[in-house]
Amino acid sequence: DLYGDERRNSFSPNIEIDSQWAPFKQAVDGFMQQQWNGGPIIGGSQRKTEQVHPVLAPQNHNIRVGEMHWASAQDVSEALDLLSDGFVSWNATSVNTRAACLERLADLLEDNLAELVALCHLEAGKTIQDSIDEVREAVDFCRYYAVQARRGLGQPLLGTAFTGKDRQYRLDGRGVFVCISPWNFPLAIFLGQVSAALVAGNSVIAKPAEQTSLIACRTVELALQAGIPANAIALLPGDGASVGAPLTRDPRIAGVAFTGSTETAQLINRSLAQRDAEIVPLIAETGGQNAMIIDSTSLPEQVVRDVVHSAFASAGQRCSALRVLYVQEDVADRIIEMLRGAMSQQVVGDPSLHSTDIGPVIDLKAQQGLLAHIEKLKASAQLIGQTPLPQSASQGTFVAPTAFLISDIAVLEREQFGPILHVVRYKASELDKVIDAINATGYGLTLGVHSRNEETTRHIARRTRVGNIYINRDQIGAVVGVQPFGGQGLSGTGPKAGGPRYLPRFTREIAL
Ligand code: SER
Repeated sequence: DLYGDERRNSFSPNIEIDSQWAPFKQAVDGFMQQQWNGGPIIGGSQRKTEQVHPVLAPQNHNIRVGEMHWASAQDVSEALDLLSDGFVSWNATSVNTRAACLERLADLLEDNLAELVALCHLEAGKTIQDSIDEVREAVDFCRYYAVQARRGLGQPLLGTAFTGKDRQYRLDGRGVFVCISPWNFPLAIFLGQVSAALVAGNSVIAKPAEQTSLIACRTVELALQAGIPANAIALLPGDGASVGAPLTRDPRIAGVAFTGSTETAQLINRSLAQRDAEIVPLIAETGGQNAMIIDSTSLPEQVVRDVVHSAFASAGQRCSALRVLYVQEDVADRIIEMLRGAMSQQVVGDPSLHSTDIGPVIDLKAQQGLLAHIEKLKASAQLIGQTPLPQSASQGTFVAPTAFLISDIAVLEREQFGPILHVVRYKASELDKVIDAINATGYGLTLGVHSRNEETTRHIARRTRVGNIYINRDQIGAVVGVQPFGGQGLSGTGPKAGGPRYLPRFTREIAL
């Protein structure tokens, strides 16, 4: 899909707080001292287990957000039994009723906006604005999939064969769907997967990321309150080895929706293939090595604004984020100088402050990996700029946004999931080589293009193999129902989340 400059067009009109920032922030602050406790949810009630993990805020490890109980092997097996039974009645429930549950859940998310923003901010280290956007996206997913379900799943579908014979069929749920979600969108992607699988008629076992299970737990409580039956949804917090692996090995599951690294998706794929059971779908949205191409006809001020936002917003922890910027030689000096200036003005620090642009990265492991990459490049590449860190940064896991000049995308071994930008200079005559190099990574998630020459944009769009192309704008923040999101190649299987073809992948065709 190729996107221009659409503005946000959300399904959540009740989340417009710009004019009421002060009272809203006060409501969020009211939740900041709260402790949240979570655990596996099976049969509608939350369990305590032996494996208790403290949850500390990434921005300040002295802030204890609460604690999380991880699921045991027994919990995994009980959830599978319960949800296999639960599927039958949930799938027999009308599409209208299932869609209405999603709409009630969307209302409940809006009603609990301040708490969810506080929790997202504390557990994932997101800025308040990013946390608001996160809840809004979750609401959008629920409302959008409710509409799509009523349109596409509610009534018998008709097909006419070339012989003229009619056939009738409907789309049903497949069974127990396992949803494995990442920490970078702990509410939006978590609920995007879960709401789609549920409204299509599946029962759902959700395994949230270890780092952000509290907000997932609170969301499942709200889903139950919204009317999702206790035997249609279960939450199993824990790590990949103790929860993810037994789930994806189990012959009872009917599909997996996964967002995370390409390596983990490949692992899940192998695990599913080894089961002596039905061959089931894997819907995977994975990594990227996202580029942006800038030519000499682009507007430098607009370019720099969009580059900074695409590369560093959310501390670069978006799968859509810009990693490699290709700048045409003729404008490179000017753009690099302006980029350096903009980077020196960004504010990194306490994500609860309105003035902060960039918060922490998720945890120590992520921080160490990113810092090691920065050290390596300092020895082998030219440093363009680095945003200073505040003194308080030592209380949490911060990484200074950094930009390097490198020779080519091919020198990067893997995606660096954080605020690190790599810049490559290219000559106008080398444009096709640039496109080939981007394609040769094997990834294909987002691509940004800045050019006022329509022929150039069309040429680039035709030749690059990526899921989402953004022209003369930033390349993050796909809006549900407006910019369906998903990649090609190593970046994912499709179908695109938040798009009209997503729900059918969670269903099977039943002849009438
Ligand atoms: N959908 C997100 C974005 O577009 C990435 O996961 O930024």
